[in-house]
Amino acid sequence: MNLEDREQQLPPPTQGGSLHHHHPRRKNPYQKRLETTASKPRAYVILLLVLAFALGYLSHSHPLLSSTASDVLEHNSFPAPCAEPLPPSDVRRTILSRVFNNTSPWQSFPPLHARPLLLKEWTKGWGSQMPVFEHLIEQVRPRTIVEVGTFLGASATHMASIAKKLGLETQIVCIDDFRGWPGYYDEEKKSLKMVNGDSLLLYQFMQNVARANATENIIMMPFSAGTALGGLCDWGVYGDLVEVDAAHDFHSAWVDINHAFKVLRPGGVLFGHDYAWDGVRKAVHIFARLHGFQVKLDGEHWILY
Ligand SMILES: C[S@@+](CC[C@H](N)C(=O)[O-])C[C@H]1O[C@@H](n2cnc3c(N)ncnc32)[C@H](O)[C@@H]1O
Ligand SMILES: *[C@@H]1O[C@H](CO)[C@@H](O)[C@H](O)[C@H]1NC(C)=O
Ligand SMILES: *[C@@H]1O[C@H](CO)[C@@H](O)[C@H](O)[C@H]1NC(C)=O
Repeated sequence: MNLEDREQQLPPPTQGGSLHHHHPRRKNPYQKRLETTASKPRAYVILLLVLAFALGYLSHSHPLLSSTASDVLEHNSFPAPCAEPLPPSDVRRTILSRVFNNTSPWQSFPPLHARPLLLKEWTKGWGSQMPVFEHLIEQVRPRTIVEVGTFLGASATHMASIAKKLGLETQIVCIDDFRGWPGYYDEEKKSLKMVNGDSLLLYQFMQNVARANATENIIMMPFSAGTALGGLCDWGVYGDLVEVDAAHDFHSAWVDINHAFKVLRPGGVLFGHDYAWDGVRKAVHIFARLHGFQVKLDGEHWILY
C-alpha cells in the first residue's frame, strides 16, 4: 500500500473530539502532499503521525504512537471555574426555582397513581449510617451538603438527622437519576412494580424523605451526575461537604470526583464511599496526587484532606 492509498483510508481529519488522538494544534497533517515534502525533516514527523494514526486505526485498540502528552493531559483538565458562590440560604430556593418551577415537589405528594404502589419500609442503602457521616458533619458543620449517588436516600436522611441533632441548618442536595441501572430488577428483589417502564425510584426516595421528616432539608437534582453537577456549578451552589457514591468503575468515579471537586467550597471536605473498589481507589489516588491531597480512610469511606 502506498501513501496515497493510506491517505484514502484515513477518516476525515477535521472531526472534533476524534477518538484517534492527533495533535489538537496540528491541523490536518494528512492533507499535506507527502511526496513533495519527503526530503524535509518535517516530513518524517508527518510520516510518523500518519503511520501511528493508521496503526491505531487499523488495530482498533491503543494508538500508542499518536497519543501525545497533551492528549493525555486533556483527560485531567476540567476547566472553566464555577459561578460566584450563592449564599447558603439561597441554595434551596435556587434549585426550587431552576428545577421545580418554584413549587416544592412534595406538594400533594404522592400522586394518585403512585400512592398504592410505594412501600412503607424500603430504605436500603450501603454503609449509609457509618460513623463517617457523624464525624464529618460534626467537624465541618456544613450549611450545604452535595451527595452524588442517593438511591433511596438512606445516607441522605441519615445526614439530615445528624444535622438536625446538632442544631444545624443544613440543606442536602441529592443527585441521582433515580432510575436504577441495567440489571436492577434482577438484583433488587424488593423493587417496586414498574409503571410503564418507570422504576418509581424517585417517588420512593421522596416518600422516604417525607417519612424521615426531612423534606425541608433535602432537595434532589434528578439528573445524571455530570449534568446535575454542571447545573450546580453554573448557579454557584457549593457544598461544604461533598460526597461521591455513584457508579464505581474508574472512569465514572474519575469524572464524578472531578466534577464534584468543582462545587466543593474552599475549605470544604470531599469524601466518598467504597474505597475497596479498584476503580474508585485508583481515581481517588490519581486525583489526590494531582491536587496535593492526602487520602484518609474512615471505615469504607475515603476522605481527601
Ligand atoms: C450506591 S447507590 C447510592 C447509595 C446511597 N448513597 C446510600 O448510601 O444509600 C448509587 C446510586 O448512584 C446512582 N448513579 C450512578 N451513576 C449515576 C450517574 N451517572 N448519574 C446519576 N446517578 C447515578 C444510581 O442510580 C444509584 O442510585
Ligand atoms: C409553573 O407554575 C405556573 C404557575 O405557578 C404554572 O402556570 C405553570 O403551568 C407551571 N409550569 C410547569 C411546567 O409546571
Ligand atoms: C416525624 O414527625 C412526626 C410528627 O411530628 C413524628 O411522629 C415522627 O416520629 C417523626 N419521624 C422521624 C423519623 O423523626
